[in-house]
Amino acid sequence: MQSILSNTQKQFYLDNGFLVIENFVAENICDYLLQHTQKLIDHFDPTNVKTIFSTHDQQHAKSFYFMNSSDKVHFFFEEDAFDATGELRREKKFSINKIGHGLHDVDPVFNTFSRSHKLAALASALAISSPLLLQGMIVCKQPFIGGEVQAHQDATFLYADKEPVTGFWFALEDATIENGCLWAIAGGHKQKLKSRFKCVADKTTTEIFDATPWTLSAMQPLEVKRGALIVLHGLLPHMSKQNTSNKSRYAYTLHLAAANAGYAKDNWLQRPANNPFRGFL
Ligand code: FE2
Repeated sequence: MQSILSNTQKQFYLDNGFLVIENFVAENICDYLLQHTQKLIDHFDPTNVKTIFSTHDQQHAKSFYFMNSSDKVHFFFEEDAFDATGELRREKKFSINKIGHGLHDVDPVFNTFSRSHKLAALASALAISSPLLLQGMIVCKQPFIGGEVQAHQDATFLYADKEPVTGFWFALEDATIENGCLWAIAGGHKQKLKSRFKCVADKTTTEIFDATPWTLSAMQPLEVKRGALIVLHGLLPHMSKQNTSNKSRYAYTLHLAAANAGYAKDNWLQRPANNPFRGFL
């Protein structure tokens, strides 16, 4: 059977640690996923969670809400989404930063999208053996306020000791320098992991292996049209800047690991024993 990736694409990914595949998702599917996301936001009642995001002494509750989101659809707000009285400064739909981290399992639409034959074929072409789908998340990057995501390697947060995780980043809208596209250091995946974010006995820590900062001047923008997929190696240094434009930059991200990759038990993202990570089926 013919591979979904050409040899040139595979070599580009090996050399650079990322691969842009234009027109991977059809326009009408992008529209459908965006409309569905808006429905999820419309139906989300922030009453129960707004106190944990609007009050500074709720760090523990905020952390619990985050740590327990692996098999749920949780909504995370932008920094400063709430005013001093605990009310949203802007409309709810312009206040959400991201939605996750179990969209691919819990939500029927994202489940179907995430488990398509095309994605399974892509994972196979990337030689990810017996892939497990770790997390599915919508990142909103709201107009004017969508915050910066600092330079990092995904393996810091989703560590596997035998084979790094892989990220699929789907542009549901055009991603430009103005609205906060991804930036990456081509070939940077050949460097070692700089840090690990761990969770042990409900306490999170960051273990630093190399404190030297990333060379931000080496970051190149990955501007893409809606429908593009960017494949990201788990060790690739990447970031996104603040959205300074009046256009949102919705993206859906999915992370995968080979079943025998050695996914760490002290990663923050864990699944309950009765609902483990699943593959494409
Ligand atoms: Fe990332």
